Amino acid sequence: MSFRIQPAAPARPNRCQLFGPGSNTKLFPKMAASAADVINLDLEDSVAPSDKDVARANVIEALNTVDWGNKYMSVRINGLDTPYWYRDVVDLLEQAGDSLDQIMIPKVGCAEDVYAVDALVTAIETAKGRTKPISFEVIIESAAGIAHVEAIAASSPRLQAMSLGAADFAASMGMQTTGIGGTQENYYMLREGEKHWSDPWHWAQTAIVAACRTHGVLPVDGPFGDFSDDDGYIAQAKRSATLGMVGKWAIHPKQIALANEVFTPSEEAVSEAREILAAMETAKANGEGATVYKGRLVDIASIKQAEVIVAQAELIAQNG
Ligand code: COA
Ligand code: MG
Repeated sequence: MSFRIQPAAPARPNRCQLFGPGSNTKLFPKMAASAADVINLDLEDSVAPSDKDVARANVIEALNTVDWGNKYMSVRINGLDTPYWYRDVVDLLEQAGDSLDQIMIPKVGCAEDVYAVDALVTAIETAKGRTKPISFEVIIESAAGIAHVEAIAASSPRLQAMSLGAADFAASMGMQTTGIGGTQENYYMLREGEKHWSDPWHWAQTAIVAACRTHGVLPVDGPFGDFSDDDGYIAQAKRSATLGMVGKWAIHPKQIALANEVFTPSEEAVSEAREILAAMETAKANGEGATVYKGRLVDIASIKQAEVIVAQAELIAQNG
């Protein structure tokens, strides 16, 4: 183990992030009543340029008036290459109350993008005497974003989560994809004339997970476009979970239950984690650094994993 201990990511559940355009106010109460852990009200690409001001006002109004319960509330601002983003930040920080938890910065390409938003947010928080600090999440969805992913993960103590945005990422990389996320028609190996599909997102996801785990940030899988394909969504989510991601976006309410199913630790996993912690306590009491559980070696690394699973299960149970 390196001298520097790997920091823990925030413990809050982030199994599903439900998106809705800031211009579609009819969706807000439905989003509030959903089973998503995180709500992303969007001011960016699901809102037409002519609706930007109205959507911003809608979102501020909804943050101040809708009962969002214990959902973690995030607003996706416009990109730093647009004329809208500074007004998004200023109005949100000045006018939305404490129900606003997080700002999502899209199309981040370098650590300085986050630094710029951090400077503006910090100035407004201080000027307005806001006592609850706003957290950040970013989307890696460009060649620059993935090239600088480690520096971006380290960019600000506000940063809590990082998503892979498959559609813009594919466009920026010049990938010849046909769907948003998931299996791609032309990405296969041939063996004895049979096609075996492979995963074109694997490298980007793994790079994001490594950067996030190094800096205590939650790695999240982004959108899956075809919301009529439940099996495709679940397969993508399971691959992401296997690689270490903690959750996935929903762009339609039917995807929420799918994400929650994949990213909620199973009862067996939770009780096994509790047993591992108990076995380790006994070992510690006997002055041993490792022990055997069901024929497997249990050591400090297993303890950390078990603690994460138990903490997640407890938070999910609390949130209901
Ligand atoms: N959150 C909450 N409820 C939603 C919802 C969302 N994101 N999207 C749809 N619903 C509701 C609909 O209002 C409808 O409710 P009803 O049964 O009370 O009428 C129900 O779910 C079924 O919706 P459906 O008719 O299948 O879809 P739609 O045509 O109304 O909407 C989309 C489809 C894709 C336009 C819509 O889901 C949407 O705007 N998604 C978010 C897009 C987004 O934010 N993108 C940015 C990130 S990539
Ligand atoms: Mg995008």
